[in-house]
Amino acid sequence: MSLDTLLNRIDDDLPEALERLMALLRIPSISTDPEYKKDCLDAAEWLVADLSSLGVDAEVRPTTGHPMVVGHVGEGSPHLLFYGHYDVQPVDPLDLWDRDPFDPEIQDTPNGKVIRGRGSADDKGQLMTFVEACRAWKAVIGKWPCKITFLFEGEEESGSPSLVPFLEANAEELGQPDLALICDTGLFDRDTPAITTMLRGLLGEEVTITGPEMDLHSGMYGGAAMNPIRVLSRIIASLHDDDGRITVPGFYDGVSEIPAEIMDQWTALGFDDKAFLADVDLHTPAGESGRSVLEMVWSRPTCETNGITGGYTGEGFKTVLPSKASAKISFRLVGSQDPLAIRESFRKMVTEMLPPDCTVSFKDHGAGPASVMSTEDPAFEIARLALTDEWPKPAAFIGSGGSIPIAGHFKEILGLDSMLIGFGLDDDGLHSPNEKYDVRSFHKGIRSWARILDALTS
Ligand code: BES
Ligand code: ZN
Repeated sequence: MSLDTLLNRIDDDLPEALERLMALLRIPSISTDPEYKKDCLDAAEWLVADLSSLGVDAEVRPTTGHPMVVGHVGEGSPHLLFYGHYDVQPVDPLDLWDRDPFDPEIQDTPNGKVIRGRGSADDKGQLMTFVEACRAWKAVIGKWPCKITFLFEGEEESGSPSLVPFLEANAEELGQPDLALICDTGLFDRDTPAITTMLRGLLGEEVTITGPEMDLHSGMYGGAAMNPIRVLSRIIASLHDDDGRITVPGFYDGVSEIPAEIMDQWTALGFDDKAFLADVDLHTPAGESGRSVLEMVWSRPTCETNGITGGYTGEGFKTVLPSKASAKISFRLVGSQDPLAIRESFRKMVTEMLPPDCTVSFKDHGAGPASVMSTEDPAFEIARLALTDEWPKPAAFIGSGGSIPIAGHFKEILGLDSMLIGFGLDDDGLHSPNEKYDVRSFHKGIRSWARILDALTS
């Protein structure tokens, strides 16, 4: 077969492929909110029906949380395991969306057409790039390029609680794939495709400080009673020093400098620190002093408070001295930082900062280490060249500030290396209002997978 026939078929089928993606985007599969449990099941069933229509032996697999979708098809080597996630982030603040997040539409923008809707970039649009490449392959060639196992998760955005038990219980069925393909990352820039070789780990902690046993009148008790918001604020403020370094004892154990060879590759990419910040209306890097912006987001660890609650936050004003205050705090981890050791050290540090009459409780929101992919498998160079054929500029090996827990679990549980290829852009609005995925990302993403499958199997 000629690769051109396959690529032409993908071009011709783009309108139908977009329609299918829109149907999946209409299902509000928000994994973290129990109200959307049925929708998560609907999205899993939609995927099973779509895979089945291609002749994949696909099933919805229950877990203690949202179901997995598992599908098997084809034969021969290499055995590829493709992973994506069908769950999405919550949509709030809803009033900042220009339209219903689950009523997707194709919109014209100065940068071309985009698919607007929750999950378009993270990760439904991305996972469908691979499914659509398979559909075109099946239509043009009539048989599958090699043995492919599909694994779609429904809890990636909420810490993947069922993933490890599922992988352990189903390791035999998943077989011994040669390589995992994960489509949940981005391009380096509009014209430069990328294989992501480093992901940061993540540790999530919720801290609740309790002072008085109930909310008090701040006139009657203010001054005499300790305010838990004051305590919490002091704790949060103390987590960074004046150089932007994190003060949790032992936090930097396991953080090392990036090898010079990788640093040189990154420097050659010509990342524009100023433009990156200017795109979100900022101008001054806020990380550790002496580090480049690329290091701050790809290779240095962070501590961020993601939300704070306490006291009266509604309309108007209330002179209350609250009983409780809480914060959700996440740490992005790199190198061989140990998430559990950091959790313990963080909890000890917070506990030691408590003034008299205050207590603290902690809620665990998951912990996973950073992962670094080995690029020794020749498949990496083959895929890099295939991507280079599709996009205007040569493909790069890059880092990523995000976390995708499955990459680490594939390695630990299945002994499997992952190749992370995705087509998202920095301005896609992941986890934000008005999320979008460029039609160009979707279209060239499908074409990229077709080229990669062709190159890996010929
Ligand atoms: N697709 C993202 C990860 C990502 C973000 C990769 C940006 C590359 C660039 C993924 O769905 C995600 O958001 N993961 C969460 C993980 C968490 C909830 C355990 C993250 O990174 O916050
Ligand atoms: Zn994602």
